[in-house]
Amino acid sequence: MSLHFPIIRFKDVYKYYYTGDEKVTALSGVSLEFQKGDFVSIMGPSGGGKTTFLNCLGGLDFPDQGEIYLNDRLLNNLSDKELTELRRKEIGFVFQFFNLMPTLTVQENVELPLLISRSARTESKQVQSLLNYVGLLHRAKSFPAELSGGEMQRVAIARALVHRPSIVLADEPTGNLDSENGIKILELMSKACTDFKTTVVMATHNSQIADYGNRHFEIRDGKATGRAY
Ligand SMILES: Nc1ncnc2c1ncn2[C@@H]1O[C@H](COP(=O)(O)OP(=O)(O)OP(=O)(O)O)[C@@H](O)[C@H]1O
Ligand SMILES: [Mg+2]
Repeated sequence: MSLHFPIIRFKDVYKYYYTGDEKVTALSGVSLEFQKGDFVSIMGPSGGGKTTFLNCLGGLDFPDQGEIYLNDRLLNNLSDKELTELRRKEIGFVFQFFNLMPTLTVQENVELPLLISRSARTESKQVQSLLNYVGLLHRAKSFPAELSGGEMQRVAIARALVHRPSIVLADEPTGNLDSENGIKILELMSKACTDFKTTVVMATHNSQIADYGNRHFEIRDGKATGRAY
């Protein structure tokens, strides 16, 4: 396998939304590719298409035209079942509002992707080691409401990495954090890129945050420009 194997490829992708009589072109001919281990920053104005891009890549939404490949697999042709399977195995998600389950402990939240993807058996060592990795092993038995925002997002990162996905998608992961905690999260995601050879694709409004990436591009009016290759 070539070292420059593109893990993500978009070929002329279009996505439209219809609201009443209006047709919104959320992605307008996006073509780009990223390599394994890239830390990709997406910037651009509100409504530009960043979340749409991430949702199409994560199999949460579907393009109307064009092709999206993840690990050389064309996503367009997958059935719902195959897409769900792919999301569970290959993709980790980190959201702006953390999205932890309030009734589960920190440990259980991180365990969840393993429980879902591997029927019964959970690998508690893997969970413990990820909690240790994000510096929260001592909070394993706490509930999300007992944590700070920065800590909750570190739990979300552990959860996103626990099943060893090939890509992590992060939509404004620091949007609800102060700058100190935001930087901690970025350092952690950047370290995960190296340590786990994970490809991270992150949308952000903040150019200082975007600087953590090694690939940068902008989505404006559904069109991608910048150093995406
Ligand atoms: N479910 C939807 N139905 C209709 N229009 C939508 C839907 N989702 C997004 N859009 C529209 O698609 C365009 C792109 O939206 P998107 O959410 O991708 O932007 P964004 O770059 O993530 O913005 P923000 O920085 O505010 O999060 C916008 O014009 C938005 O109004
Ligand atoms: Mg968005």
